[in-house]
Amino acid sequence: TSNRMWGGRFAAGPDAIMEAINASIGFDQRLAAQDIAGSRAHAAMLAATGIISDSDAEAIREGLLTILSEIEAGEFAFSTALEDIHMNVEARLKDLIGDPAGRLHTGRSRNDQVATDFRLWVRDQIDAATEGLRALIGALLTQAEAGADWVMPGFTHLQTAQPVTWGHHMMAYVEMFSRDLSRFTDARVRMNESPLGAAALAGTSFPIDREMTAKALGFDRPMANSLDAVSDRDFALEFLAHASICAMHLSRFAEELVIWSSAQFRFVTLSDRFSTGSSIMPQKKNPDAAELIRAKIGRIFGANVALMTVMKGLPLAYSKDMQEDKEQVFDAADNLMLALAAMTGMVGDMTANREALRAAASAGFSTATDLADWLVRELGLPFREAHHVTGALVALAEKKGCDLPDLSLSELQTGHEGITQEVYSVLGVDNSVASRVSYGGTSGERVREQVARWKEQLA
Ligand code: ARG
Repeated sequence: TSNRMWGGRFAAGPDAIMEAINASIGFDQRLAAQDIAGSRAHAAMLAATGIISDSDAEAIREGLLTILSEIEAGEFAFSTALEDIHMNVEARLKDLIGDPAGRLHTGRSRNDQVATDFRLWVRDQIDAATEGLRALIGALLTQAEAGADWVMPGFTHLQTAQPVTWGHHMMAYVEMFSRDLSRFTDARVRMNESPLGAAALAGTSFPIDREMTAKALGFDRPMANSLDAVSDRDFALEFLAHASICAMHLSRFAEELVIWSSAQFRFVTLSDRFSTGSSIMPQKKNPDAAELIRAKIGRIFGANVALMTVMKGLPLAYSKDMQEDKEQVFDAADNLMLALAAMTGMVGDMTANREALRAAASAGFSTATDLADWLVRELGLPFREAHHVTGALVALAEKKGCDLPDLSLSELQTGHEGITQEVYSVLGVDNSVASRVSYGGTSGERVREQVARWKEQLA
């Protein structure tokens, strides 16, 4: 038998394989709430403009509400033969209310319908990502405030570079995640326009009111070009691009937590709630949540590449290729939200091991730059010469198997005879971080200012 919705010109029904490749109901049933919201807005507008009667609109409204509660209760029988969520809902509406159901699709096409549903869904995810990021930033601020002056090694090339503070390191991620947050906020502004009423591609001859449906669905305005409205998925790509950047940030932080929680580093202890054991090695406590967060970028950026590749080269307007947009975005969104929530939980629960951080900060000649700076400041050496003198003293300490503050004054003076007892004040890690008071620097003082600034900004 031919299709109930578009079978007029067809004598035969589809091959089973055709049905299998064509149907999207297996995944686009996630758009049910958005689809019903869009249809309700459309029906109300059709009545307000006199295109359908008030009584038909009322029957449609009640029918759609019944369908929504059936779906929410898990009582709705989704049918693959009916292809997608749009036709499943409309067919059920016909069962429930009869003829008025057939008037709902006046001045509308599945092309503007799906574009509308999907925009509404992506908009919700943007809001969820924004909330997830706010929670994560909150957890980072708490860590930063508690450890504003705790000393730890700062690295470049993963080699000890200079001492920094725990708070400063946490606040670096606050900056990154807040840029992610602002990217999502920007994207929302750009994408919040309504495709509804673009119809198949050219608009419609019915006297529809697109402002009215746009407003009812929380959009700022209708999209200005009907071809564009049904053709582009740039809003989904923008979500995926921003999700990818955010997942990349999460991945870097997760990598640090994996390293920091190892026995070799012991910088942090992750809570039992966010760790797992081994089935064979009883001593193990593994940072699985961090590892999975580190990995999520794979599927999220994969989705970005997949959808970009689907969209490239598509002629205007709608092509069925675009049905492939949803699973990528669903999967990326689900995993981004999960990663954000897991990271927030881990950060909230983790304990920084102050002693281990401090010991590591003091090792590896981390105050060599402070020594060089002291030679410049106190003895007037050109920086390049100070660098050379300090390098020689590091080599001496390395040969002796000790650190810079462990060298005696006479040993230090083999580097430069002008060195005095005073120099020891800059060789300690606490003085080192406390001295870095330039704007954006690592001192506890600057960190506390930034914590206060962000708290105020997010309030
Ligand atoms: N299931 C389709 C999709 O996801 C809905 C739009 C179908 N439009 C059409 N002209 N066949 O894109």
